[in-house]
Amino acid sequence: MLILGIESTCDETAVAVVKDGSEILSNIVASQEVLHGQFGGVVPELACRAHLDTIIDVVDRAISAAKIKLSDLDAIAVANTPGLVGAILIGLTSAKSLSWALNIPLIGITHIYAHLYSVKLSHENIEYPLIGLVVSGGHTSIFLIENETTFKFLGGTLDDAAGEAFDKVAKILELGYPGGPIIDKIAKTGDKKAIKFPRSYLGKGSLDFSFSGLKTAVLYYFRGQDGRSSKCDINDSKEIANIAASFQEAVVEVLAKKTLLAFKQCEEKSLVPKGIVIGGGVARNSRLREKLIEVTKASNIPIFYPLPDLCTDNAAMIAGLAYHKFKKGDFADLSLEAIPNYQDF
Ligand code: KG4
Ligand code: ZN
Repeated sequence: MLILGIESTCDETAVAVVKDGSEILSNIVASQEVLHGQFGGVVPELACRAHLDTIIDVVDRAISAAKIKLSDLDAIAVANTPGLVGAILIGLTSAKSLSWALNIPLIGITHIYAHLYSVKLSHENIEYPLIGLVVSGGHTSIFLIENETTFKFLGGTLDDAAGEAFDKVAKILELGYPGGPIIDKIAKTGDKKAIKFPRSYLGKGSLDFSFSGLKTAVLYYFRGQDGRSSKCDINDSKEIANIAASFQEAVVEVLAKKTLLAFKQCEEKSLVPKGIVIGGGVARNSRLREKLIEVTKASNIPIFYPLPDLCTDNAAMIAGLAYHKFKKGDFADLSLEAIPNYQDF
């Protein structure tokens, strides 16, 4: 079965063709990184216009790279939530038009569930249930994944997403956009214990996150408004590396400990997850990967990541997950809406 997936929830216009939920025939991603880089973050109106400019070309490229014809497709899948509503609408309208014109089913996909499905596209023999952590520029959430299409929300961020915190701290430190990969690199040359930035655990047993206080703490430290008398020197690469490493450590420590906590809480309820899967752009972070190994070492829990290109936004994850919704007959119609906020359906 051939499904074409469309992803436009944020700043990547992506289209892919996936066979039977597992074989990626094409996976085209047109990134808007350069466009938004000059502003240090995604500008929604510019994102929508860029999606509009590129979507038809990206569909054409995905079809030709897959070496198929449009008429070979069995269904069209689209990420219709969560994300920037105007950006989603471009992909959604394209998907509806294709589904209507080709007279094949339309399938609506929740973007963050698809991030977790990326792990399934990257590894064979993954068994359920699993604990899933989605960490990206827009989302930080933990789920109990019961099977390919059943996700139970366990906790999420109350303010900034983890990737957003990386991007904003990189902006404070004038490192460029997107900030995650740059901080990941620079932090390797810094001392992660140099500055004790706050970790927000939000109470015993909580699986929610908050990163806005940490971001503010970095800003105040950088400006010297934390009780020290002087501002940081932007040209002092050692000092900037220490801030980056200390900030990154505060983020990954909370992410790793809460993911383990979710696992343990499920174990206590006799749900016994078979492992942990991590999806989203921040899943590429090298220190997060080390930290997860550190905290789970004693429990010997298997941890799975998507292949690097499938960590960040892509449409293969949309088309892959859609296969399982197709098999369940879970189709949408032309009234499918763009929903900006995540809803626990
Ligand atoms: O999943 P994604 O492409 O888009 C969203 O759904 O938001 O994730 C993009 C985010 C950005 O915030 C970027 O800074 C972050 O992922 N990111 C990283 C790394 N690579 C990408 N964050 C930390 N370390 C990395 N190596
Ligand atoms: Zn994403």
